[in-house]
Amino acid sequence: MNAVVLTETGAPDVLRIGSARDPVAGAGEVVVALRAAALNRRDVYLRKGVAPSPLPVIPGSDGAGVVHSIGSGVGGLAEGDAVVILPSLGWGGGEEAPAPGFRILGGPDDGTYAELIRIPAENVLPKPARLSFEEAAALPLAGLTAYRALVSRARIRSGETVLILGIGGGVATMALHIARAAGCRVIVTSSSGDKLARARDLGAAAGVDYTGDDWVGAVREIAGGGVDVVIDSVGSTWADSIGCVRPGGRVVVFGGTGGAKVELMVRPVTMGQVSLLGTTMGSPRDFTGLLAAVAHQSWAPVIDSVRPLAEVAAAHAREEAGEHFGKLVLTI
Ligand SMILES: NC(=O)c1ccc[n+]([C@@H]2O[C@H](COP(=O)([O-])OP(=O)(O)OC[C@H]3O[C@@H](n4cnc5c(N)ncnc54)[C@H](OP(=O)(O)O)[C@@H]3O)[C@@H](O)[C@H]2O)c1
Repeated sequence: MNAVVLTETGAPDVLRIGSARDPVAGAGEVVVALRAAALNRRDVYLRKGVAPSPLPVIPGSDGAGVVHSIGSGVGGLAEGDAVVILPSLGWGGGEEAPAPGFRILGGPDDGTYAELIRIPAENVLPKPARLSFEEAAALPLAGLTAYRALVSRARIRSGETVLILGIGGGVATMALHIARAAGCRVIVTSSSGDKLARARDLGAAAGVDYTGDDWVGAVREIAGGGVDVVIDSVGSTWADSIGCVRPGGRVVVFGGTGGAKVELMVRPVTMGQVSLLGTTMGSPRDFTGLLAAVAHQSWAPVIDSVRPLAEVAAAHAREEAGEHFGKLVLTI
């Protein structure tokens, strides 16, 4: 099969299409013929060697396609079924946190930048019928992360105000849809006036440029004192996020785009009775919840651009530069 096989780390041009051995479904496994894959910030970290993985490896956590072949002992699936892939591997049975063997698809396990992928059958679910293959491929990692952050961790309620940092991001755009569908008022931040305008078109009530002076003060003023929930994928912003919430508010954190180390004052958290909620990806139950929500709601993942797999390097360059709004998709 054709696949993007990462054999060395470095700039986007290390990503090239080559040939790889066709995967064969073992017991309890399925081979999916991928129609589309999508990028995540994690793919950039993998390609640069920031998130180390043994090489060679096929990157990519997100994919949708059709069932190609089925291993022994697998029920409920037929060749040709349109499916979407759950990128959490080995989450285990608990809802509070993943099991020790938890991995994200696409390094060290071969991922979705390929014509075929071999995957445990429990990670293969029906594609939401109203989504195209491109939209379905954009959904899994970012949608799952946003769903768990908002629904399972923050337990958002209708009428609450949610602040989403860096709305250009793939998880951020997904969080905007999920929070709006839950009846929340959404405020967003961005480095780009154009992205703030696009977020307002998608239902954000207000936007703040985080490159300006005192963006925390601006958010607090718009929110009438403080927001109920902050969705923070930036990391370096934790202290600011804590500054944005009302007393008793929740800050959900899952990323370090702006830096992996933070320094915090104790008092704003203790006096403010703030809940700092860590989260990562999501469980199979979270994914089922996401797919059920998508089936009954009217939103679709925001797609920045669609390119053929051969143009994966250009997609990576755009993602790394933060030029995108929503998800970068590759057709296969
Ligand atoms: N733990 C997990 O399970 C998990 C899952 C998914 C993602 N993540 C992490 O979450 C982060 C986002 O992932 P993604 O795939 O959505 O990435 P992405 O699509 O590349 O989004 C990055 C966005 O971050 C925003 N940003 C960067 N610096 C910022 C700052 N100082 N303040 C506010 N926003 C800032 C930018 O928004 P603007 O363009 O609007 O300025 C940029 O577009 C990454 O660090 C990723 O590793 C973790």
